[in-house]
Amino acid sequence: MSRRVAIVTGANRGIGLAIVRNLCKNFSGDVILTSRMTSKGKQALQILQKEGLNPIFHELDITQSASIWMLREYIEERYGGVDILVNNAAVSFDKGEKVPIFRKAQLCFENDFFGTLNVIKLFSPLLRPHARVVIMTNGYIGISSALTGDAKARFNVESMSLYDLEVLANEYLKAVKYGTYQKFGWPESPSQCAKLLLVAMAKILSKTMEKDQRRNLLINACCPGWTRSGGSREYLDDDGTAVGGVVLQEPDTAASDVVWLATIPSGTATPCGNLVRHKKVVKAST
Ligand SMILES: NC(=O)c1ccc[n+]([C@@H]2O[C@H](COP(=O)([O-])OP(=O)(O)OC[C@H]3O[C@@H](n4cnc5c(N)ncnc54)[C@H](OP(=O)(O)O)[C@@H]3O)[C@@H](O)[C@H]2O)c1
Repeated sequence: MSRRVAIVTGANRGIGLAIVRNLCKNFSGDVILTSRMTSKGKQALQILQKEGLNPIFHELDITQSASIWMLREYIEERYGGVDILVNNAAVSFDKGEKVPIFRKAQLCFENDFFGTLNVIKLFSPLLRPHARVVIMTNGYIGISSALTGDAKARFNVESMSLYDLEVLANEYLKAVKYGTYQKFGWPESPSQCAKLLLVAMAKILSKTMEKDQRRNLLINACCPGWTRSGGSREYLDDDGTAVGGVVLQEPDTAASDVVWLATIPSGTATPCGNLVRHKKVVKAST
């Protein structure tokens, strides 16, 4: 049988780097540290090598299909399949950074939503039985109760297809472009919209995976909890150590929960299609 392999996107810093570190210690197989910039990826590799760990670097920009294909070809040739796929890469912003809302929405959806979706679409055929897929999201902001009106009425995760979700994402972007997003019931923050669509993506894909001939494929959305890394910069309290009074945890602490979800033992059927934080399923609507 081919060697087992785990892939982590956006792993040159923050929680992604910590997930690679944890997988190198706890997963029996190769761990692929990916980064959109080769220089940053190689620096991250050196950090882990100094700790006596041996991940393998491969470039991956999740917004570029050619880049996703190159990684896929490498994995297919070398391993013939995938055992763990952690979709961690995401855009992050500085607190108070002045980015026009349409540009912010473009970035959040190009990276977090469509980038993640395209990675999963291209790697799905390679998933081996008992493979685990994790989609990193934010369960504090990415909850569907943030929706009202038309957006809420259209957001029926139980009956939606992946295609419906993509249509909704494009409609949201159009509404932002024309300044009508609030009229349709979308919240103010583009990050919030992207993250809640990612939670829905995990739910919708889990239904396809349940019917798949390959046994026991599990996909879940994961909120790591507020962590001292790029993803929390935008939301920091004035003292810089907490978000809404919640003290930030270290990336390695966050990574241990993510790796728990990415390494659910073979044959276990749950959680699947859920939003999970600190090893517990949370309601995606509250
Ligand atoms: N930190 C938190 O408190 C928190 C809370 C909830 C959810 N999360 C989620 O957890 C995940 C990790 O968060 P984090 O705080 O570690 O984020 P981070 O420090 O901002 O790191 C994000 C990583 O994604 C990479 N990336 C961005 N765009 C990419 C692209 N197009 N292709 C490939 N890689 C790309 C970045 O690369 P560059 O270095 O090149 O920019 C970086 O390596 C994210 O999905 C985030 O939304 C974080």
